[in-house]
Amino acid sequence: MEIKKVGVLGCGLMGSGIAQIAAQAGYETVVREVDDEVLKKGLKRIEDFLTKGVQKGKLTEAQMTEILDRLHGTTKLSDLASCDIIIEAVVENIEVKKQVFSELDGMCPEHTIFATNTSSLTVIEMAAATKRPDRFVGLHFFNPVPIMKLVEVVRTVSTSQETFDTAFAFAKSLGKEPIACKDRSGFVVNLLLVPYLLDAIRAVENGVASVEDIDKGMQLGCGYPMGPLTLLDFVGLDTTYYIANIMFEEYREAKYAPPPLLRKMVLAGLHGRKSGKGFYDYSTDPPKVTDLGL
Ligand code: CAA
Ligand code: NAD
Repeated sequence: MEIKKVGVLGCGLMGSGIAQIAAQAGYETVVREVDDEVLKKGLKRIEDFLTKGVQKGKLTEAQMTEILDRLHGTTKLSDLASCDIIIEAVVENIEVKKQVFSELDGMCPEHTIFATNTSSLTVIEMAAATKRPDRFVGLHFFNPVPIMKLVEVVRTVSTSQETFDTAFAFAKSLGKEPIACKDRSGFVVNLLLVPYLLDAIRAVENGVASVEDIDKGMQLGCGYPMGPLTLLDFVGLDTTYYIANIMFEEYREAKYAPPPLLRKMVLAGLHGRKSGKGFYDYSTDPPKVTDLGL
């Protein structure tokens, strides 16, 4: 099946990156947000990344203009109806995802493939809310989308071979390295990464070391590009909390249980870099460790 037009649901951290790389790869791309204000913020994130790319000599100004010409922002769900593939990157909440997919199901032609960027939900839960479970697949990108090479392509019990092959080839066409995954909560990467991140929060709670030293330990001791607490701020503490709850619900294993400190930080609006504050306070450059009163 040939894909010409790409739809993206959500223009947050992930949706903006996915929309950007789709337009960059030459696809006509439509990205939908809930209101103009959030949409504007997401489109600005894309423009800023491309502008930096021009400054770094990664692309020309003319290429940037072409990419932005292929990218259309909207708040109307019906503007996605003519897309060949739609990738959903809205909040990690099953009810919101089911609702948006079931609405789209009634609007899109039969051939349209639905894909979800969920981090932790099983894909079949969303596929079952539509009349096209055979044309439903997981396409799990990594943050920051324009830089991270991996995409997990997830096949459910109902995904057809043709849909899987099309999605796999589509991920490659975006310049990514796809891997095939089973429809198990967390797929490959989050199954391993989430317990590690949650353990880092438990280490803070238990006073094992300071936030900075835990980060330094994993950067310098294991060669990770970011320490776990910096990475948590980068992913979003709200999103991590939703993921932990979903994975704990699924597996009932203590390693996925959200630590109380995570819940408290989310309740306090400390969502990480996107809210300006998480384990670090981003109002200064370089960021300072947040006083959590521990
Ligand atoms: N345009 C084009 N290229 C750009 C760019 C731009 N605006 N900004 C950066 N780049 C390029 C750089 O030029 C560089 O490429 P080269 O190596 O070819 O020079 C590359 O991108 C890396 O950029 P930087 O050197 O500026 O950035 P860095 O070294 O500080 O690394 C990082 C930044 C890639 C984010 C790195 O810190 C990292 O890998 N962090 C870990 C990220 C991670 O683990 N993500 C996964 C999160 S979990 C997830 O996503 C799943 C989930 O479900 C929660
Ligand atoms: P985010 O909070 O940055 O963005 C979500 C966006 O979806 C918000 O801007 C919100 O306004 C929008 N939205 C909500 N309902 C919508 C709807 N019906 N239509 C269109 N837009 C809607 O979250 P994010 O970090 O981009 O995460 C999005 C999805 O990607 C989640 O499922 C998350 O688990 C997954 N994911 C996140 C990361 C990460 O590192 N943050 C990595 C991989 C996958």
